[in-house]
Amino acid sequence: MIADRILGVQRSPFYSIMDLAAKRPDCIYLQLGEPDFVTPEHIREAAKKALDEGHTHYGPDRGLPELRQLIAEKIQREHGVAYKWQDEILVTAGGQSALHVAVMALANPGDEIIIMLPHYPPYVVNAQLAGAKAVFVKLKSEDNFVPNPADIEKAVTDRTKLIMVLTPNNPTGAVYPKETLRALLDIAKRHNIVLISDEVYECLVYDGAQHTSLLSFPDAREHVVQVNSFSKTYAMTGLRVGYLAASADKQAQFLKYHHTANISANVPSQMACVTALKGPQDCVEEMRRAYQERRDLTVKLINDIPGIHCTVPRGSFFVFADIRELGMPSLEFAEYLVRDAGVVLTNGSGFDYEGFVRVSYAAKPENIKEAMRRMKEAVIKLRERKKA
Ligand SMILES: Cc1ncc(COP(=O)(O)O)c(C=O)c1O
Repeated sequence: MIADRILGVQRSPFYSIMDLAAKRPDCIYLQLGEPDFVTPEHIREAAKKALDEGHTHYGPDRGLPELRQLIAEKIQREHGVAYKWQDEILVTAGGQSALHVAVMALANPGDEIIIMLPHYPPYVVNAQLAGAKAVFVKLKSEDNFVPNPADIEKAVTDRTKLIMVLTPNNPTGAVYPKETLRALLDIAKRHNIVLISDEVYECLVYDGAQHTSLLSFPDAREHVVQVNSFSKTYAMTGLRVGYLAASADKQAQFLKYHHTANISANVPSQMACVTALKGPQDCVEEMRRAYQERRDLTVKLINDIPGIHCTVPRGSFFVFADIRELGMPSLEFAEYLVRDAGVVLTNGSGFDYEGFVRVSYAAKPENIKEAMRRMKEAVIKLRERKKA
């Protein structure tokens, strides 16, 4: 009765942890890829006003013109390149939909899509749904999970159609240097490949690190599709607005897919995004600063746990911590933590990367402190049990 294309997709393994956590009411959740801040008030007010004024109808399928103009202006201002709002910007139902639309419209069955490990799991599902083959390149913790372009090029074949690029990264927190991105673009140009550049964490960079957008290279247009979102920057994951920036010929095809799946993105939410882009940006900076403090706290407390180590990530809101010394599969460890300590984090195997766990620090500092205290106790117990 059900199509093979979806039967072949595994339900996210994270749910097994969540099901377990549901049995323990005192759990602290450090597994979410989601800001714990409430959407800033002026943005919420704009959504409410849109509803009150009756903006409850379909919008133009490409997105509200004013929003597309503001997005194009933002790209020009931040990356120094001109993307035409009329036909090079498409507003989608979140970055997630943007990713799906782009992959479905670009990859043919049998094409190969290079995905770096650890990955954002929907990349693999999109490849599967497109009938394409996911080709994995494992990134190294010794390189702080920054890709080595030569390793990526080794994975290229004459079937390679897309390379998924994610900076700042989920789950590693890595921020790719400009030279790495330049080298990836050169590979794309040499082999006629498109880079899907997922930049949803663009504003969450720390210690003065700079996010470089692949769009900013003047020769990027033919080979880069930018996926972006309002979710993380403005803590508005539930309002579901993202966008694609790409050449007009690609957007013409993306639009057909997007229209069929969504008609348009949510109109009151798009009006809230207009306010987000036009309004003061100090809320973004305040949240960014708070994340940086939480990151510092998390890194310090993790490195104080015997057998667990992490480096200081420069972006997003995740720490990818090395648990190899514990000699336990990451899923087993994550389940143990839920059962024994009521701490919920994400097993590295969920990102096809064993030996690590992802800790989200998009949580209140007191929760981070308590979670790390419980985790330390649980790990000490585990090591003692192993010794005995
Ligand atoms: C790497 C990455 N890309 C895209 C998304 C999708 O975000 P949204 O659909 O809320 O814009 C997420 C969400 O967690 C993500 O982590």
